[in-house]
Amino acid sequence: MFMTHSTASAAEALPADPIPPAAYELARQGLLPRHLAMIMDGNGRWAQAHGLSRSHGHRAGAETVRGLTRMARKLGIEVLTLYAFSEQNWSRPASEIQGLLTLLVEFLGHELDEMRKNDIRLVALGNIARLPLPVRITLQHAIDTTARGRGMILALCLSYGGREDLVQATRTLAKRVAAGELAASAIDEAAISRALWTGSLPCPPDLVVRTSGEQRLSNFLLWESAYAELYFSPVAWPDFNEPQLCDALVAFSQRQRRFGGVAAL
Ligand code: FPP
Repeated sequence: MFMTHSTASAAEALPADPIPPAAYELARQGLLPRHLAMIMDGNGRWAQAHGLSRSHGHRAGAETVRGLTRMARKLGIEVLTLYAFSEQNWSRPASEIQGLLTLLVEFLGHELDEMRKNDIRLVALGNIARLPLPVRITLQHAIDTTARGRGMILALCLSYGGREDLVQATRTLAKRVAAGELAASAIDEAAISRALWTGSLPCPPDLVVRTSGEQRLSNFLLWESAYAELYFSPVAWPDFNEPQLCDALVAFSQRQRRFGGVAAL
């Protein structure tokens, strides 16, 4: 009934698990998405609301990435895809782009050990050749170091656009047809899926979450999201933490997915 002094201090030393029990319960019942994809929106507005610079907003957003990656891994989600930098984001001021790329490099440096320990495999999806060389080197090192991870795939969309991906996949397939390696009639959904940057992922997204109140896909996983459930939260990305993700997962578990068919009675 009474804690001894040593028990009390041991309990105090343990940080509380930030993941709500309801999320573990969904995992236990097999009701989680296999593939969770997230549009991390609202860093800038969050910063403005707190009287901070946009770069502070992105830095706070990177903290959210850390927490939610841990949560997804602990729950046993197979793939977590994050829209970190779109092709269209290249039109932002150079200083903001530089800040985002610096954050990415820092994130990869700090999290590499944890990714390895937790059996996470990092992959990058997008027009990676467009990233500056030092970023590509750090990224490739993280990809190589985690290549044997089997616990979860963390897919970072970088210089990514869904339309751009469809264009590059179409060109790849067209070249193979022109070279006589592929019959035009052999181009089916599976062939297109394989030719996309996401082609190596084990499954398409089951749930796409977008934060910060906007309700659109903004060129994210256009082909892959055909049957994804969509969840829009008014909460800005830096404030979208474990409880908010748990709410999204609960909502997902209550959706009825019919994939164009009819509900089972
Ligand atoms: C959109 O919010 C967010 C981005 C363009 C960048 C997302 C980047 C991070 C969350 C941090 C770095 C990522 C990693 C993986 C370490 P916005 O800035 O467009 O928000 P706004 O619409 O309120 O301006």
